[in-house]
Amino acid sequence: MHLSLQTVTLVSFAATAYIASPVPPNYSPSSLACLSSARNNGTYRLQTSSLGYHDQSLTGVPGDGQPWNQDLNLLRTVGINPEDYGLPPLDPNDPAPISPCLADLELLAADRLAACPPNLYFEGVIGRPPIFRSWTSPAYANDGFMLLGIALANITGKSLDQLYSSAVFNPLRMSNSTSEVPPQPDWSQCVISGNDTSLWAVPTSLSVSSGGIFSTINDLAKLGTAILNSTLLPSNKTRQWMKPVSHTASLEFSVGAPWEIYRYTHSDAGAVTDIYTKIGDANNLTGYATLLLDYDAGFNILTAGSTLQKSNLAATIANMITTTMIPTLETQAFAEAESNFAGTYRSNPPDLNSSLTLTVNKSSTDPGL
Ligand SMILES: *[C@@H]1O[C@H](CO)[C@@H](O)[C@H](O)[C@H]1NC(C)=O
Ligand SMILES: *[C@@H]1O[C@H](CO)[C@@H](O)[C@H](O)[C@H]1NC(C)=O
Ligand SMILES: *[C@@H]1O[C@H](CO)[C@@H](O)[C@H](O)[C@H]1NC(C)=O
Ligand SMILES: *[C@@H]1O[C@H](CO)[C@@H](O)[C@H](O)[C@H]1NC(C)=O
Ligand SMILES: *[C@@H]1O[C@H](CO)[C@@H](O)[C@H](O)[C@H]1NC(C)=O
Ligand SMILES: *[C@@H]1O[C@H](CO)[C@@H](O)[C@H](O)[C@H]1NC(C)=O
Ligand SMILES: *[C@@H]1O[C@H](CO)[C@@H](O)[C@H](O)[C@H]1NC(C)=O
Ligand SMILES: *[C@@H]1O[C@H](CO)[C@@H](O)[C@H](O)[C@H]1NC(C)=O
Ligand SMILES: *[C@@H]1O[C@H](CO)[C@@H](O)[C@H](O)[C@H]1NC(C)=O
Repeated sequence: MHLSLQTVTLVSFAATAYIASPVPPNYSPSSLACLSSARNNGTYRLQTSSLGYHDQSLTGVPGDGQPWNQDLNLLRTVGINPEDYGLPPLDPNDPAPISPCLADLELLAADRLAACPPNLYFEGVIGRPPIFRSWTSPAYANDGFMLLGIALANITGKSLDQLYSSAVFNPLRMSNSTSEVPPQPDWSQCVISGNDTSLWAVPTSLSVSSGGIFSTINDLAKLGTAILNSTLLPSNKTRQWMKPVSHTASLEFSVGAPWEIYRYTHSDAGAVTDIYTKIGDANNLTGYATLLLDYDAGFNILTAGSTLQKSNLAATIANMITTTMIPTLETQAFAEAESNFAGTYRSNPPDLNSSLTLTVNKSSTDPGL
């Protein structure tokens, strides 16, 4: 599907909305139909690059995006010279100006995990300062989730690829999701911007816990439904997970682990609905996975596009869905509350003469009965 906004075009986007709870009688899904704008079985690469956003900096680890993105690497492979920016020249004697993961570039190209096993990754980051001292402020970084991934692989004795399949994809029947690059014959079913597979088809290896899942919106809807339904976790764990851990400098955003929580204010009632999101944004791809706990609903967006505004476009789509979906859900919730609870309740003993009448005040902006 193509979307044009202000003369910029995304190559492709797909979005679905879903509700986890059983559909109530007489409920017509037509009001949500506009949200299911595309059913795309194409496989996108979902970059969960900011997973650990918050966890990372509150625990005081460095903020490198990838274990191989260090100073000397910037100069050597990207050609960025700090002196051009008025910064001091690189000193090869500084702690790890080049990651040990880059010691053998041929091996790195052939097998990233062999070139960058956890011990070399640790060696590369250990001398690097944290962005903030622990529990100072949330900030964007990937290292927290790389460390979490390394710990999970170590604890379970499984590779992260095996872990994703056995713990999530298989139990939830997410048959079109994988953390490994799909085999080439399947690429025709994938959305690959400009057919450029040079970065798209690179195994992410150690950083797969921070970004690098191939999936579809149908599969992501299964994941969102399973989270809302506590399919894999006890419901008390799910409730604990769906909480903020820190505020930010903006009243509109809080952070969880790993949630980027957008605090949507209803224009009429002024009530706030927290939207738990996980955004991924790398190369030509931007994705949103969102959960609206208050309504037992969610939506996912996957986009591919090479325009410079592609991230803003994806945010615009997310915004359009949010501002359409929430009032619709609210209207539905209102109707359900009325049919489930409105009425006059009387005490049984007639001499008590006590009753309670609940109604919906259609002219009120206050939520509820
Ligand atoms: C989610 O849970 C509800 C209530 O337990 C159940 O009726 C529904 O079928 C579940 N949905 C899915 C997709 O598992
Ligand atoms: C997409 O997947 C759905 C469910 O697996 C299937 O019913 C549908 O036929 C597929 N559509 C295409 C175009 O492959
Ligand atoms: C886990 O890490 C410890 C300490 O580095 C190591 O001795 C052990 O072999 C690792 N286990 C696995 C399964 O990777
Ligand atoms: C998605 O899964 C279905 C059912 O398992 C399969 O037939 C189809 O080939 C898969 N599509 C992609 C793009 O992997
Ligand atoms: C990508 O490759 C496919 C199949 O080879 C082709 O049909 C399509 O036009 C190509 N798209 C671009 C943007 O080059
Ligand atoms: C992004 O897409 C454009 C065209 O759609 C393509 O030329 C470019 O190589 C792609 N970049 C990456 C990193 O995939
Ligand atoms: C959470 O739920 C599990 C199983 O559903 C139960 O064993 C555990 O005691 C509960 N924990 C708390 C703190 O309620
Ligand atoms: C019950 O209360 C209503 C409203 O105050 C009153 O009109 C009615 O007479 C009362 N009935 C009895 C039996 O006390
Ligand atoms: C309904 O809401 C309006 C506006 O808030 C208020 O003025 C009115 O008194 C309410 N009606 C009842 C019956 O509570």
